[in-house]
Order: sequence, then structure tokens, then C-alpha cells
Amino acid sequence: MSKPFAIVTGASSGIGLELATICAQEGFDLLIAADRPEIHTAAQRIRDFEAEVTVVETDLATTEGVDQLWAAAAGKPVDALLANAGHGLGHAFLDQDFEQVRHVIDTNITGTIYLVHKVGNDMRRRNSGRILIVGSIAGFTPGSFQAVYNGTKAFLNSFSFALREELKDTKITVTCLMPGATETEFFRRAEMMDTAVGTAEKDDPAEVANIGFDAMMKGEGDVVSGLKNKVQSAAANVIPAGVLASQHRKMAEPGTAKK
Ligand SMILES: NC(=O)c1ccc[n+]([C@@H]2O[C@H](COP(=O)([O-])OP(=O)(O)OC[C@H]3O[C@@H](n4cnc5c(N)ncnc54)[C@H](OP(=O)(O)O)[C@@H]3O)[C@@H](O)[C@H]2O)c1
Repeated sequence: MSKPFAIVTGASSGIGLELATICAQEGFDLLIAADRPEIHTAAQRIRDFEAEVTVVETDLATTEGVDQLWAAAAGKPVDALLANAGHGLGHAFLDQDFEQVRHVIDTNITGTIYLVHKVGNDMRRRNSGRILIVGSIAGFTPGSFQAVYNGTKAFLNSFSFALREELKDTKITVTCLMPGATETEFFRRAEMMDTAVGTAEKDDPAEVANIGFDAMMKGEGDVVSGLKNKVQSAAANVIPAGVLASQHRKMAEPGTAKK
């Protein structure tokens, strides 16, 4: 019997690498993608679990990059799509380089939903499949000094619930994993290592990935990983947006790192 097949985006480091590793441990063959050569090193680690791993090195902020990834699936039915690739961008909005701003939106939103559209249509034809979208608890908070990133995660959290509802009479499940601050390359890449959140103790990416994978396999709608994050996200639903934005400044403004 052939093994189930999963696509994991952003599998070169952090939560995505852990998600891909769990998939391999749980018997999936994999198609993995990221836009830097480290994805090939990640593939070696994942192959240790006897998974067949196809690698695509491409920029998923572009439609061409997503097309390239989808072409590499070569018509193989996708049992699970783990749409994890994403990145942040620190500093005040007006100080950010607009090309970088756009890359955040194009990766986190456009590239993600373009891939979900392609894979989702294929799943619908077969009436089978699991989709895990990596949103964030950041989506509950107006993110001063990370304004665009938090907006993209608010989009993904919302999109995930909406798509799940549209597919409720099918055998396709949509799950949104909403992590809190996690120890990955994320804050370095977002140029936030001089901030309180960038330098604080964070969650273990392997634990976060485990929670997300389990929720996906159970077909749950959403999961916030970790008790502290659950409390924080519940509070965000009742605290006024202006207060949340002011609290976010304290952890994300450059110079807030503890000396
Ligand atoms: N860390 C946190 O605190 C946290 C909290 C909540 C949610 N999240 C979300 O978790 C997801 C994974 O992030 P992480 O924390 O694990 O950070 P990470 O270690 O930086 O991993 C991000 C992954 O996404 C890939 N990626 C980013 N932009 C890409 C693009 N345009 N095209 C292709 N691949 C791209 C990266 O590959 P390259 O290095 O090759 O670009 C890398 O494999 C993201 O969606 C992030 O928003 C993170």
C-alpha cells in the first residue's frame, strides 16, 4: 500500500521543520519547500525517518513559486497540506522597506491561499484531505511595530475558519494552528532581536508542531498552543483594540529588549 502524502511549506527550520519531521515519523511521504538552500539539509534529517522526500527551493511569495511547488506534486493525491511558510517584519511601519512589507503579505497571504486553492480543489475532487494553516495568536492583536505581520495572521485565522465552514459537508478538514512566540528563526529574520519578545523565553517548536499535527489529524477547527497563549488569546477577545496595540508596543518596539 502506498504511504500517505503531505506537503509542508517552510520546512527548512522552526515549526515547519518539526511538522515535516512528525509527518515523516507518522508515515507520510513528503513534498517540502522553502526559499533558501537550507531546505536540502532539512530534507536529509526528514529522510532519516524513511520518508520519500521531494524538495522544492522556491519563493512562495510568487505565483510562479507556488506553481513550481504544485507541479512537483506531479498529480499525486495530497492527503495533508501543512501551509506553514511565513515570516514577520519588525520596526515601525513607516520605517519599513515597502518591498519587504509586500513580501510578508505575498508570502503569508497570497502565496498561502493560492496554494490552498490549488490543493483544496484537488482535495474536493477526491472528497478527502486535511489542511493545516499556521496562523498565530498575533492575529488577535493589532501589532504595533509588527503591524503588517499581525494583519496577515488575522487574515489567515479568519480565512481558515471561513474555509472550514464552506467545506463542512465534505471529508476535507481545515485546522488553524495559532502558536504564541516560539523559539525559531522567526524573530532574527524579522529583525526583532532588540525587542522584548525577540529576546524573551519562547515555546519549543517541536511541542507547537505536535499540538498542530494532532489537531489536524483529529480534524479540529483551531488550536492555540500552550496555556499562557490560550489565556492571552482569550483576553484579546475582550480587551479593546487600542489597549492591545499599546501593550504590543511594550514587547515589539525596537529597544525594548531586556539588557
Ligand atoms: N515563531 C513564532 O513566534 C511564531 C508564532 C506564531 C506563528 N508563527 C508562524 O509559524 C510559521 C513558521 O515560522 P517559524 O516561527 O517556524 O519561523 P522560521 O524558523 O523562520 O521558519 C519559517 C519557514 O518559512 C519559510 N519561508 C518564509 N518565507 C518564505 C517564502 N517566501 N517562500 C518559501 N519559504 C518561505 C522559511 O524558509 P526560508 O528560510 O528558506 O525562507 C522557513 O522554512 C510562520 O507562518 C510564522 O508566521 C511563528
